[in-house]
Amino acid sequence: MARVVSCPPPQPQSTMLTTLCLLLNLATPLLGFYPSFSCPSERQCQTALLSDNDIFLLCNSSGAQWNFFFMNNRANWPNKVASVSNIEIIPGTGILIRSPLPSQTGFYHCQDENGIQVVQYEVDFQDVSTLHITHKGLGQKPLQNETLSLGGEELIFTRWEPWQDCNRCGEPGERKRLGYCYIEEPLQKPVPCWLYLGDLKMWSTRLRPEMQVETCHVPCKTPTLDFITFDNFEISEESESVWLTCPLGSIYRPILWEANDMPLTWQGQLSNQDLNTVLEPANGGRQLRVFQPAIYKCFVQQELMARFNPRPFPDMPEALREEEAGRPQGAREASKGKAGPVLKGLKLTLLVGIVLALLGLLGLLLKFFHHSQGKRSDQVLLVK
Ligand SMILES: *[C@@H]1O[C@H](CO)[C@@H](O)[C@H](O)[C@H]1NC(C)=O
Ligand SMILES: *[C@@H]1O[C@H](CO)[C@@H](O)[C@H](O)[C@H]1NC(C)=O
Repeated sequence: MARVVSCPPPQPQSTMLTTLCLLLNLATPLLGFYPSFSCPSERQCQTALLSDNDIFLLCNSSGAQWNFFFMNNRANWPNKVASVSNIEIIPGTGILIRSPLPSQTGFYHCQDENGIQVVQYEVDFQDVSTLHITHKGLGQKPLQNETLSLGGEELIFTRWEPWQDCNRCGEPGERKRLGYCYIEEPLQKPVPCWLYLGDLKMWSTRLRPEMQVETCHVPCKTPTLDFITFDNFEISEESESVWLTCPLGSIYRPILWEANDMPLTWQGQLSNQDLNTVLEPANGGRQLRVFQPAIYKCFVQQELMARFNPRPFPDMPEALREEEAGRPQGAREASKGKAGPVLKGLKLTLLVGIVLALLGLLGLLLKFFHHSQGKRSDQVLLVK
């Protein structure tokens, strides 16, 4: 086990601490919840993934040592990079790369305790900010094949992943697939673009990853899991909007958002019909930007994950302040006395809310874990 946190015995007044602690303790086995990648069978494989989206690279050797070699740092090879701030080594399991950068395209070597190579990943983290998104229902076409003039006859094309599951059941939903930029020389195996180009600085509008969306219709079969309720998100006048994040959502998994039970679709967004919400393209809609109070729900793999309720009385603190400002001194003191318990009550509600949300998350994670063990293949990304 990577991390052992000893938790205080549960006591009524420290529920939150205990919950947090339990969550921390569970963090290690729960790593299965991050989309993960492992070489199908060989000890060496090449793959393309997207920048900015957390990914787990597996190497289950105990006492594993990792070395990283980044393409853009080639001049310094064979100097290995020993530690990188967004890469967490989980002993006996692998590495978790949080928000990988395109500049972290390169080689990830995992050796066992005797220095024998267990697995070698060559990963191209393609720049998600250049993602080319098309919707079949809107008649939009993916990128065409193009030739690259580097002297030979290199072909740039998109290699598509399988379609992800439909994000909704029983009703029309949407499904997406990711496509990565590859370069192929005649009679050679195609290579992910930036592993091919190495530190060659080259720019072309064709060199970019893609995401394609289409409408789908599937019957319902999976049982419903518990979900978390996040109470009281608030859209203030200054910020005008807030970002909601779907727990366990990822660009590598099907996600659906609903606003007051109406599904928010890529089709609506790409044709400028949904103006009150924005699905963040860079994380496949894991985050939703909302401008209006409404009840928002998110689903991952057709399972309800979370419900976000707007704050019921958005102007409460300001209204109180205004009320106080408009009163003479004595009245203000009196009103403070009254406001005290109200505010305390609010804080308490918030605290209870947090604890409930944490407990909810815990239950959710556990259920998702059990559930996903049944259909493990959905959880582990197998990219050729
Ligand atoms: C590592 O994983 C492989 C394949 O999943 C399995 O065969 C092997 O037994 C595992 N090794 C350890 C040390 O868990
Ligand atoms: C583009 O190139 C790929 C790889 O050679 C090939 O599989 C695909 O059929 C080509 N697509 C078109 C439209 O020519």
